[in-house]
Amino acid sequence: MRKILVTSALPYANGPIHIGHLVEYIQTDIWVRAQRLRGNRCIYICADDTHGTAIMIRANKEGITPEELIANVREQHQASFRGMDIEFDHYGSTNDAESRETCAEIWAALRREGLVHEKKISQLFDTKEGTFLADRFVKGTCPKCGAEDQYGDSCDKCGATYTPADLKNPVSTLSGTTPELRDAEHLMVEIERLRPFLTEWTQNGGHLQEEIANYLANFFLKDELRDWDISRPAPYFGFEIPDSPGNYWYVWFDAPIGYVGSTRVWCAKNGENWEKWWKDPETEIHHFIGKDITYFHTLFWPAMLKVAGFNLPEKIHIHGMLTTNGEKMSKSKGTFIKADTYLRHLDPAYLRYYFASKLTGSVDDVDLNFTDIRDKVNADLVGKLVNLASRTAKFIREQGTSASYPEDGGLFAAGAAQADEIAQAYEECDFAKVTRLVMALGDRANKFVEEHAPWVLRKDPERAQELQDVCSVALNLYRQMVIYLAPILPKLAKQSAELLNENAADWTFESVKTPLAGTKVNEFTHLMTRMDEKAIEAMIEETKIENQPAEGQNAEETGSQWDDSAQPLEDEPLDALCTIDDFCKVDLRVARIIMAEEVPEARKLLHLTLSLGGGVTKNVFAGIKSAYKPEDLLGRLVVCVANLQPRQMKFGLSEAMICAAGPGGKDIFVLSPDSGALPGQRIH
Ligand code: MSP
Ligand code: ZN
Repeated sequence: MRKILVTSALPYANGPIHIGHLVEYIQTDIWVRAQRLRGNRCIYICADDTHGTAIMIRANKEGITPEELIANVREQHQASFRGMDIEFDHYGSTNDAESRETCAEIWAALRREGLVHEKKISQLFDTKEGTFLADRFVKGTCPKCGAEDQYGDSCDKCGATYTPADLKNPVSTLSGTTPELRDAEHLMVEIERLRPFLTEWTQNGGHLQEEIANYLANFFLKDELRDWDISRPAPYFGFEIPDSPGNYWYVWFDAPIGYVGSTRVWCAKNGENWEKWWKDPETEIHHFIGKDITYFHTLFWPAMLKVAGFNLPEKIHIHGMLTTNGEKMSKSKGTFIKADTYLRHLDPAYLRYYFASKLTGSVDDVDLNFTDIRDKVNADLVGKLVNLASRTAKFIREQGTSASYPEDGGLFAAGAAQADEIAQAYEECDFAKVTRLVMALGDRANKFVEEHAPWVLRKDPERAQELQDVCSVALNLYRQMVIYLAPILPKLAKQSAELLNENAADWTFESVKTPLAGTKVNEFTHLMTRMDEKAIEAMIEETKIENQPAEGQNAEETGSQWDDSAQPLEDEPLDALCTIDDFCKVDLRVARIIMAEEVPEARKLLHLTLSLGGGVTKNVFAGIKSAYKPEDLLGRLVVCVANLQPRQMKFGLSEAMICAAGPGGKDIFVLSPDSGALPGQRIH
């Protein structure tokens, strides 16, 4: 049994999780689950990347502390991941104390080796905001070709690279003012001294994909490596450097150390010794990252680990970037889709399966095509997979599977024989191959069902045994497919195990080798719906609306600028004034919807149970059926009028009301508090 520690890159705490990120987190989650299915011990560690200028500035703008901002974002990120069935063993924060301690340990090692020296650096300083400006926060005219409106590090037009101080007419993107050059002492790491080690590590031992190893050899390791500037002067949101007051570690110093910090928090909670995970060669470390952050993970990070005597990664799995319909994700085209938005419209299984079917373990970009995803999901998941069970399980609900596994022309044995090949494809991140192999099994299984037509057998009582046998074969072939796909489709695996009276947590790659015989078959519950064109369109529309730019603003650059001036005030004029005392008579509370169901006899009503915390619940009939499905409401926080006089309705007693906006019909919008609010809290 291998002992494996897996990480995904730590998402920045200054924005929501979007479908681009999900290429990575879904891929990693699948790999981790596949390792467990192989019987290995594997933990999955992640965290938010919380430091740096961008976060400091956003917090400033929102009038909250950076700590508040990162706490809010962390909740949102975790909710997105949960929704996508991505399960971490621990999700920490680079701002955790354990992370700071590890920074100090690695820093001390760099100092001890004499790798750190000071250097005076001139950098542009925004006097209005009182902060030095990172390259991306300065725009100006390209010093080489004269193109306007270029970023501080490189020119879009001629490709020249330079420092922000070289820009002509520089402007701070934070304040719009002209920044000035200021000197500050920075701490530099002499990474060049590790070049022999890095050359050896990147080129040998199979730690990197070949194309990455070649890229590093050709573009970096041939020449002297430049010193790495790892400090930033105050003000900066991060950890102050213990032996250099007024200076902070640059976010990219402490970000990967967050992998260790987060592991330490998990270890403390689970009675484990973190050094067994990070300093004991028994543990294999696997990082999953996108190609945009290759440089930090393949040069600086191994160098730091080496100097400090930590384990080096066994493998860094690098993937390409997501494009949508062949283009860069775009806010104005509605393809810059947030995980939350996706989840309001579509089943996570669709995206998990689709990404799996596209991932081959290469660094090529991955394209999400909205026609292709629908065709693939409907053909494979619904047509080949779920259909197999839905067409057969109901016929043997009473009698269960045949007492001994019937003759099937070698289908089951052929499927079982592929276990090693499929496990190996998972190991290599070639999930596309996994889906291909499994769908080929599906083709054969469906052919078997069609040839034996259980729906015909069923009509003839004399052929009951044959019916049971055919359905037993079909369900066993279905089970084999589901086990093979369990890392990709964990929820479907769980439901299918219940159908087959098993527990998905007990499944391993060995389970595909022994068929079920003489076992119970439970009630067939709905497993998956076809992917609907309309839901995709609605998701894209919603994304466009979320990203509507204010006038004169470029949609691609703003994530959070709203312009509501074009939106007419509702037909209703504003009401006469009320006093604060009037308002306070209405006891508005945060509530959680803990039960939601249709009232079949009522055209407009949903029946809800609201939890107000402390065990208090309220029964509510809400006129929102035209806009919401019960399952979309379950678990949501809403705003409720908690002291409304109860009202006897035809279908029962309504004890409260939930707040919503909009004219009605499909346009009803239930209000919800920002994440972090708790049931029972009063709204003032
Ligand atoms: N905070 C850094 C990582 C620090 S790791 C010690 C960071 N954060 S990020 O939020 O920008 O990206 C997190 C991960 O998601 C990265 O591996 C990145 O490559 C990946 N992706 C972000 N956008 C992506 C796409 N559009 N497509 C594919 N992967 C993407 O980088
Ligand atoms: Zn230029």
